[in-house]
Amino acid sequence: MNNNLRPVGIIGTGKYVPEKILTNSDLEKIVETNDEWIVSRTGIKERHIASDNQATSDLAYEAAVKALDSAGLSASDLDLIIVATITPDMSFPSTACILQDRLGAKKAAAFDLSAACSGFVYGLATATNFLQTGMYNNALVIGADCLSRITDYTDRNTCVLFGDGAGAVVLGEVPEGRGFQSFDLGAEGAGGAHLYLEAGGSRMPASAETVEGKKHYIYMNGREVFKFAVRVMSSATEAVLSKAGITKEDIDVFVPHQANIRIIQSAMERLNLPAERVVVNVDKYANTSAASVPLALVEAVEDGRLKEGDTVVMVGFGGGLTWGASVLKW
Ligand SMILES: CC(C)(COP(=O)(O)OP(=O)(O)OC[C@H]1O[C@@H](n2cnc3c(N)ncnc32)[C@H](O)[C@@H]1OP(=O)(O)O)[C@@H](O)C(=O)NCCC(=O)NCCS
Repeated sequence: MNNNLRPVGIIGTGKYVPEKILTNSDLEKIVETNDEWIVSRTGIKERHIASDNQATSDLAYEAAVKALDSAGLSASDLDLIIVATITPDMSFPSTACILQDRLGAKKAAAFDLSAACSGFVYGLATATNFLQTGMYNNALVIGADCLSRITDYTDRNTCVLFGDGAGAVVLGEVPEGRGFQSFDLGAEGAGGAHLYLEAGGSRMPASAETVEGKKHYIYMNGREVFKFAVRVMSSATEAVLSKAGITKEDIDVFVPHQANIRIIQSAMERLNLPAERVVVNVDKYANTSAASVPLALVEAVEDGRLKEGDTVVMVGFGGGLTWGASVLKW
């Protein structure tokens, strides 16, 4: 990164998952599946599901309040709010604007960012650039999603995979040598047909037919997404390490997108990473889309796994298709 830019890193963290837990045995009562299949194919044991009166901004709010508290800042200190989500409260206003109002972050610019499960890392990169150049001082970046709202609970191919949650970080100036060292963001739009939600946009507005045709739910070609994920988890990591001028041996804590334990294990093998350096919580939360990487990061912070000076690599991949990776000196 350009050395004339000021160093920017994470100065506060918070997370929130809804109280309600949906276990694999609960799902056995809804679709033809079983705990053994789900655990052996995905590593998932349970997931958290938003209550009827909770929307994405409510999850984001809980995580944001904790992140601000841990940063020792108040909402009025924020210059920028980015919410990475594919399940906004509504098409517009953005979830970030809804949150800005609820937090009372009156001077903050606010917008949503749509890069599916890579959204949080895309958001980190975006906010870091605003802060490094000195345009802004403090930014709140949140990954939040309620995938349960766009999941078809009659489709066993997808309904076992997803959960709801939010992870938030506050970005600000950090001492020289700390903070974000490099980012690698990318997209393969040609693969968009492997993971999408078809209706409700300008191409196919919501209608009685789209509801009847179940076109407001996630469609996924699991095998193609799996192949893409395995490939980019290692290629994006190698790219972001090379940009930071370090090697995989330098990674202290690896925070991968939590979609499937087999995808994480394959990245560990390709990158030669021992299990103790890899954060895994897919068993508890399943795939929470944009919330997945920050939920894993914040959990590692809360567990005391992250120590000052550690080199942290975060990697997300998802719909778009997209990927995003970062190297951060904690
Ligand atoms: C979805 C995924 C877990 C499926 O695992 P898989 O090993 O590829 O399984 P397959 O697709 O080969 O399916 C095997 C069989 O299990 C069945 N099956 C699918 N879901 C099932 C479930 N929940 N319970 C029981 N059986 C199930 C399939 O119908 C299929 O049966 P068939 O062979 O009779 O047709 C895996 O492809 C995956 O994780 N893909 C990536 C998903 C992802 O990361 N998405 C989000 C990206 S951000």
